[in-house]
Amino acid sequence: MEKAPVLVVGGTGRLGGQVVRALLSRGRQVRALVRPASDAAPLEADGVEVARGDMMDPDSLLRAMDGVDAVVTTAAGYTRHSKGDTDEIDIVGNRNLADAAARSDIRRFVLTSILTCDQTPTVPHFWNKKLMEDRLEEQGVPFVALRPGAFLDQIARDDAFAKGRLSWFGSPDVPLTFVLTADLAAFLAAAVDVEVHGGERIDIGCDRPVSIRDLAQISGRLLGREIGVRSIPAPVVRTAGSVLGGAVPMARDMSSMMEWFQTGKYVADTTRQREVFGVVPTAEDAVTRLLTALGYPIQA
Ligand SMILES: NC(=O)c1ccc[n+]([C@@H]2O[C@H](COP(=O)([O-])OP(=O)(O)OC[C@H]3O[C@@H](n4cnc5c(N)ncnc54)[C@H](OP(=O)(O)O)[C@@H]3O)[C@@H](O)[C@H]2O)c1
Repeated sequence: MEKAPVLVVGGTGRLGGQVVRALLSRGRQVRALVRPASDAAPLEADGVEVARGDMMDPDSLLRAMDGVDAVVTTAAGYTRHSKGDTDEIDIVGNRNLADAAARSDIRRFVLTSILTCDQTPTVPHFWNKKLMEDRLEEQGVPFVALRPGAFLDQIARDDAFAKGRLSWFGSPDVPLTFVLTADLAAFLAAAVDVEVHGGERIDIGCDRPVSIRDLAQISGRLLGREIGVRSIPAPVVRTAGSVLGGAVPMARDMSSMMEWFQTGKYVADTTRQREVFGVVPTAEDAVTRLLTALGYPIQA
C-alpha cells in the first residue's frame, strides 16, 4: 500500500524546493503548503499536491495536515522570501505549526532548525528556532530537529567565483560549520524515516569547521586560480547593526549573528549525523560539488 503523503511547509523556497525533490526521488508522495499568493505551478508540474494555506492561519494548517504521514518544514519569515514577511512568522506561525501537528495524527515532524540555536538568545532568528523546538516538545509532537550550519551555497552570492573574491562579515579567519544545501535537503528528506529518539536535535555540517579564508583557498585550488576574500571588519558590522537596528530589526539580528560567529562556537558535532545519515562530507567535497553545480570546471 502506498504511504500517506509528506507535507512540506516552505516548498517554494530555495532549500524547501530541494527537500521536495529529495522526497520525490525517495518515492514519497508530497503535499505542499503554499500561501494563496505564491506560485505553486513548478511544484504542481513535479506532481506535488498543493494545499493552499498560511502558517499564520491555524485552520489551514489542520486542513493541510489531514491524512499526512509526516511534516517537514523549512519555512521562515526572517528570510523575507515574499514581500511583507517578518519574524512574526517565525514566532506565531511556527507556534501554529507545532500546535496543528499536536492536534493531527502525525508520525514524524522534521524541523529545519539552526546550529547552536539554544546558546544564542541574542540572535532572534536563531532563538526562534530554539523556541520552536521547545514548543514541539511541550506539545508532545514526535519530532526531530536538524540543526544545520551556515549554507555553503551563500558564498557564491553576487557572482563571487566569477569575480574571484568571497565576501564576508567579521574576521575571515574564524572557523565555523558550513553545509551544502543539497546535502541538508537529502538529510531532511531522509529524516522522515530514519531511526532517531523522539525530540532529538542533530547538528548538521561538513567534516570540520572552516574559515572563509580556508574556503577561498579550497575553491582557489579547485578552480586553478586565486580566490580572495573581502571582509567588512567586525566593529563596522556592529556599528551598522546598532545604528540601523532601530529602523531595520533584521540589521541587528544579522550583526548579532556575526558576533556569535566571531566567538568560534558556531561549530557542529557531527557524531550523530554520521550515525543517523551515514555521511559527513569533507569541506573539499562540498565545495567541489558547489562549484560543479555552478558550472565551473574543476582543475585539481
Ligand atoms: N541560510 C543559512 O545559512 C541557514 C542556516 C541554518 C538554517 N537555515 C534555515 O534554512 C531554511 C531556509 O530555507 P529556504 O532557503 O527554502 O528559505 P526561503 O527560500 O527564504 O523560503 C522561505 C519559505 O517559507 C515560506 N513561508 C514563509 N512564510 C510562510 C507562511 N506564513 N506560511 C507558509 N509558508 C511560508 C515561503 O513561501 P512563499 O513562497 O509564500 O514566500 C518559502 O517557501 C530556514 O528555515 C532557515 O532558518 C538557514
